[in-house]
Amino acid sequence: MALQVELIPTGEIIRVVHPHRPCKLALGSDGVRVTMESALTARDRVGVQDFVLLENFTSEAAFIENLRRRFRENLIYTYIGPVLVSVNPYRDLQIYSRQHMERYRGVSFYEVPPHLFAVADTVYRALRTERRDQAVMISGESGAGKTEATKRLLQFYAETCPAPERGGAVRDRLLQSNPVLEAFGNAKTLRNDNSSRFGKYMDVQFDFKGAPVGGHILSYLLEKSRVVHQNHGERNFHIFYQLLEGGEEETLRRLGLERNPQSYLYLVKVSREGLAGRTWCHLGNPPSQSCNPALPVPQGQCAKVSSINDKSDWKVVRKALTVIDFTEDEVEDLLSIVASVLHLGNTHFAADEESNAQVTTENQLKYLTRLLSPLNLEQAAYARDALAKAVYSRTFTWLVAKINRSLASKDAESPSWRSTTVLGLLDIYGFEVFQHNSFEQFCINYCNEKLQQLFIELTLKSEQEEYEAEGIAWEPVQYFNNKIICDLVEEKFKGIISILDEECLRPGEATDLTFLEKLEDTIKQHPHFLTHKLADQRTRKSLDRGEFRLLHYAGEVTYNVTGFLDKNNDLLFRNLKETMCSSENPILGQCFDRSELSDKKRPETVATQFKMSLLELVEILKSKEPAYVRCIKPNDSKQPGRFDEVLIRHQVKYLGLMENLRVRRAGFAYRRKYEAFLQRYKSLCPETWPTWTGRPQDGVTVLVRHLGYKPEEYKMGRTKIFIRFPKTLFATEDALEIRRQSLATKIQATWRGFHCRQKFLRVKRSAICIQSWWRGTLGRRKAAKRKWAAQTIRRLIQGFILRHAPRCPENAFFVDHVRTSFLLNLRRQLPRNILDTSWPTPPPALREASELLRELCRKNMVWKYCRSISPEWKQQLQQKAVASEIFKGKKDNYPQSVPRLFISTRLGADEINPRVLQALGSEPIQYAVPVVKYDRKGYKPRSRQLLLTPNAVVIVEDAKVKQRIEYTNLTGISVSSLSDSLFVLHVQREDNKQKGDVVLQSDHVIETLTKTALSADRVNNININQGSITFAGGPGRDGIIDFTPGSELLITKAKNGHLAVVAPRLNSR
Ligand SMILES: Nc1ncnc2c1ncn2[C@@H]1O[C@H](COP(=O)(O)OP(=O)(O)O)[C@@H](O)[C@H]1O
Ligand SMILES: [Mg+2]
Repeated sequence: MALQVELIPTGEIIRVVHPHRPCKLALGSDGVRVTMESALTARDRVGVQDFVLLENFTSEAAFIENLRRRFRENLIYTYIGPVLVSVNPYRDLQIYSRQHMERYRGVSFYEVPPHLFAVADTVYRALRTERRDQAVMISGESGAGKTEATKRLLQFYAETCPAPERGGAVRDRLLQSNPVLEAFGNAKTLRNDNSSRFGKYMDVQFDFKGAPVGGHILSYLLEKSRVVHQNHGERNFHIFYQLLEGGEEETLRRLGLERNPQSYLYLVKVSREGLAGRTWCHLGNPPSQSCNPALPVPQGQCAKVSSINDKSDWKVVRKALTVIDFTEDEVEDLLSIVASVLHLGNTHFAADEESNAQVTTENQLKYLTRLLSPLNLEQAAYARDALAKAVYSRTFTWLVAKINRSLASKDAESPSWRSTTVLGLLDIYGFEVFQHNSFEQFCINYCNEKLQQLFIELTLKSEQEEYEAEGIAWEPVQYFNNKIICDLVEEKFKGIISILDEECLRPGEATDLTFLEKLEDTIKQHPHFLTHKLADQRTRKSLDRGEFRLLHYAGEVTYNVTGFLDKNNDLLFRNLKETMCSSENPILGQCFDRSELSDKKRPETVATQFKMSLLELVEILKSKEPAYVRCIKPNDSKQPGRFDEVLIRHQVKYLGLMENLRVRRAGFAYRRKYEAFLQRYKSLCPETWPTWTGRPQDGVTVLVRHLGYKPEEYKMGRTKIFIRFPKTLFATEDALEIRRQSLATKIQATWRGFHCRQKFLRVKRSAICIQSWWRGTLGRRKAAKRKWAAQTIRRLIQGFILRHAPRCPENAFFVDHVRTSFLLNLRRQLPRNILDTSWPTPPPALREASELLRELCRKNMVWKYCRSISPEWKQQLQQKAVASEIFKGKKDNYPQSVPRLFISTRLGADEINPRVLQALGSEPIQYAVPVVKYDRKGYKPRSRQLLLTPNAVVIVEDAKVKQRIEYTNLTGISVSSLSDSLFVLHVQREDNKQKGDVVLQSDHVIETLTKTALSADRVNNININQGSITFAGGPGRDGIIDFTPGSELLITKAKNGHLAVVAPRLNSR
């Protein structure tokens, strides 16, 4: 958010530029400062937090406007320098929580928004650090929040102070004394449902560690007339209703009470007699009805109030009583006094023949009759009410004394007691102005006059002292000193109280009116005193003859003299006193002392007693460091949020707030210790930012020079800087606000940068860590590998050197390596088949193993091969082997036959004549092949079939078996070594049936011969001839076949009768 500030002479304009909202222009009218709504602390900065910062500090309107602005935002607290102004919000603002207490503990008063706790904490710290007694004076009119403030202060101390080493119960007692005092001393009035009807000053003692260790209460002037009479809409003291509402059946029965408050005249009605004598009539609320003493008239009539829960309050009070050391008996005694006051109120009188009073009440009080019989009706009622008031007020005094005994520090005698400090809390009735004002208002207003004087004296004094201490010239302040009014009231012989006392004591007919005359005579010259007689024509109209007017510092108050003498005398018939002295109730016994009866000296009058006690109070307060809380009531109807300007203006006036402000502002609006000032604003000057190392005072000098303060705007004291005009401070504050924005941005940026850098460094460190670890690992692995390699190489070399030595540790590795690598290599290089004869060369050590392996391998291959061949193929191979045995290297056309497979038979069964088959009978044909037969004589070739059976070779011509040669008769077979395909079957000659050897030719000569040799088992009988073959061509006649190599095959009958065969040479054998 960009912020722009301009200063104008009357105040200042602050422009708030918001990105989403239109530019807002706020003008400080009447010097009232309007601040941003959107800044974080803006809520607390509505208006000014301290009235001294009002530019126009003499304007009451500006003052009230500032109060109003803040009140509208529920900001009920504002300072006038060190004085706290508080406006009763009439609603729970949730600003007194434990967190709030913590927030205000130990922080500088001006650094946080104004709050009661800030005052509480400042006072407490001063008490602890300076060890000086302190007093918080809380003032304001009825309902302004004094008692509430006192309670909050006590609560603050109870919760935030350390617990004492012993007697931690003191804290509880301090807190619990309150409900008891409130029950007996507070009542509902028109102004306040819980109005304190007595003044209270409470001391809290703290030990040197700052723990509360004891307390003491002083009470002032209880409004006892309330016991017998209340205005319409008001109530008697709370305790009566609490007892009737909350008291147990048994208790009520014992006390002879009914639960219904309506049954008690002191609570709802007051008898005519009470009103008949106007002399008792309370607080200028004169009964307008005509007096008929026989009939009671309704009064009060508000036993039930919505804001009060008597039943639960009763429980609180009962519990509190036990906390503050009340025994059951004491409670009983106390309650019986409360009950007796109620009974007293219900006592009625009737006149007898001589118009003497007779008690007519059913539950007659015998002694009352006796006591009151010489009196007339009016006197009797007066005496009764006087008794009730005396009993109640003395009991209240006793109660305070009793509480004090309970609060008294148990260590009072021990040395630590001397080291205690005291914090006083003054919750006293504020200035009161009613339409009709009587003796009570006179006393109360006199009290306020005294306190105001003390206030002026102390503030002025402290102000002056501060100037002196700081070495700054004191500029006299114009202010109204109310001493003149105090003197008017309290001066010896000439003061109103003296004159009143004199009238009370004077023999002869003294009345309220003679008192008034005496006043007129004695002080007619006084500028603050006025009566009907003394007034000029104009003012006279506003004054009755029975009235006098005092011009109090807070405003004019007209008092009606009626009842002054009586109330001042406060007489109780002697016989009533006597009776009370002999009461069996121990409390009453203490309240009414016999010495009082024998004391011939007239007791001090009420006014004089009050005066004395006030003087004492003033002395007590003077001995302490004061702090002030000024309470303001925003409206008369106890409503939240309503700001009744007239009412507030009036209070501002009589609380002397403007006066207070004037004194405070007489010289300088603002002052602050150099340290604090420098600390706050040092960022505005480059020389003081970020740290100033010299004296703070010099730093401030540099700072204000940089800020351009003019000489008349400020003064430098010994420890503080004094700034004359608020606008100077505002300009500085605003500059700070802007500076803060940029500082915040800078801090953010720096922080982000720092944060990112931290993160980056962390990541970097991690990365480096991982990297180095990984590199280390890699390095170690590599080193290990190299080491291993070196070792291996070394071993190999050693082993290589000693390779021929017997196995020893030095060569074992090498030898093993060579062996394994040979074996592994061998596995890859094994021969693929039986014909492959390759085999790696083994190392010397494995030569034998290698051979064995080779053999194994070969066998394995053979075995594998054998397993894989079929029976037919086996037979084929066997035949081929036999053929090889017979012909290999011997006959020229053998190599051509090798690749041609032998066939089981060359002729199918269908190609053989059935008659031949028939002739063979059961003999199977193992092989059949077409052949050419050459005649034995003419060598004519004739086509024939050669059949092999298990027993014989059969030559067949078509259907005819031409020749059958039993194997037994086959003596041999002859072939040439050339490539021809002729062969001769040699047959046994002796057999005549045999025609002789047979010359045949087969295209498959190798196959045919191999099969025939096998069938006939004549493998070894095949002759391979070179040149020629001789054969037997019939009985006694041989034939010859000549073989000659030639270019092509030619078979002819040679001229020499031989068969000439020319065959080409195919292979060189
Ligand atoms: N600070 C506050 N916050 C909320 N309510 C308050 C505050 N001060 C006073 N009140 C209300 O105003 C009433 C009157 O206050 P109280 O302290 O009894 O007045 P006083 O003692 O001045 O006559 C209280 O009962 C309470 O309801
Ligand atoms: Mg009060």
